[in-house]
Amino acid sequence: MPDVILVTGGTGLVGRAIQYVIETEPEGSRFGKKPGEKWVFASSSEADLRDIKETQKLFEKYKPTHVIHLAALVGGLFANMKYKATFLRDNTLINDNVLHTSHTAGTKKLVSCLSTCVFPDKVTYPLDETKIHEGLPHHSNFGYAHAKRMVDVANHAYKDQYGSNFTSAIPTNVFGQYDNYDLETAHVIPALIHKCYLAKKNGTPFVVGGTGKPLRQFIYSRDLAKLFIWQLREYDDVEPVILSVGEDEEVSIKQVADAIVKAVGFVGEYAFDATKADGQFRKPASNKKLLGLIGDFQFTPFDQALDESVQWFLQNYDTARTGVKAA
Ligand SMILES: NC(=O)c1ccc[n+]([C@@H]2O[C@H](COP(=O)([O-])OP(=O)(O)OC[C@H]3O[C@@H](n4cnc5c(N)ncnc54)[C@H](OP(=O)(O)O)[C@@H]3O)[C@@H](O)[C@H]2O)c1
Repeated sequence: MPDVILVTGGTGLVGRAIQYVIETEPEGSRFGKKPGEKWVFASSSEADLRDIKETQKLFEKYKPTHVIHLAALVGGLFANMKYKATFLRDNTLINDNVLHTSHTAGTKKLVSCLSTCVFPDKVTYPLDETKIHEGLPHHSNFGYAHAKRMVDVANHAYKDQYGSNFTSAIPTNVFGQYDNYDLETAHVIPALIHKCYLAKKNGTPFVVGGTGKPLRQFIYSRDLAKLFIWQLREYDDVEPVILSVGEDEEVSIKQVADAIVKAVGFVGEYAFDATKADGQFRKPASNKKLLGLIGDFQFTPFDQALDESVQWFLQNYDTARTGVKAA
């Protein structure tokens, strides 16, 4: 029987990137489709994974041999702070339904997606895979982070009780095509791309919140997609793997904004509003484990990845997830 790979959350930022890589890398290559393989990219409209019956139906329909589990209620700081119980409950239900149905349906391998916000608030840097449960996560995303952490707990429990081949990935900040550009809920890169686009269109200043000094590790969704495909095929251990560029590839918010200004072709007034909070100066995560396992892997240079993402947004503005279209 050929392998069937079900990607939950297949219509989001990361899911679309996996679909792109699977469809564009040469067939039979390390990240390309294997002959006979079938990939299914599921959306929430096909199955609401908070519901066990819909989850079971999805698995009965496609009979996946492998699952990449990306589906999650994802939101920005404001939403996470305001709806802690919803983030906790929806993500707990989604994860429990997907993990348990993968088990009962006899799925051979499951890779679930965590996030670096699962890490403790008070922790020594750089973050690495051993530190997830060393203390409480930051209070701002306490519901989401606990639901995600429990996936690691469940992976160990299913392995110990049933011998399941379940594992997880921990990406740092992701950006790319099909991102969420809604200014109310977007992460920093898509929010700045959208703001810069509007500033150019309306002839208004492009104002970036904060000093621009904080440093972050950003991973291009198409690079992350390759790493998920690697983890699904070549990594058989329950312990999570941080999927990220190296600590030496941190970029400042100013570098991000500069690259966006260039890619958008914005020539108007551009400033930083230092009265806005910066957040933590840096929270580096180590990709040593990943690099030690994967061997040779080329990350796309940041400026190139950002330019590709901006060009996609400019060409797809009408259908991109921008929320209510701002004037
Ligand atoms: N974006 C980042 O910077 C980042 C960083 C670290 C980790 N992650 C993790 O990466 C994974 C993918 O994130 P993303 O950025 O690609 O998110 P996204 O663009 O918001 O996509 C979320 C996906 O989950 C699906 N989904 C949401 N609720 C669902 C439900 N109740 N039932 C079924 N499907 C549901 C959505 O389907 P519809 O579109 O059909 O509603 C969509 O396909 C998540 O697990 C997230 O925690 C993201």
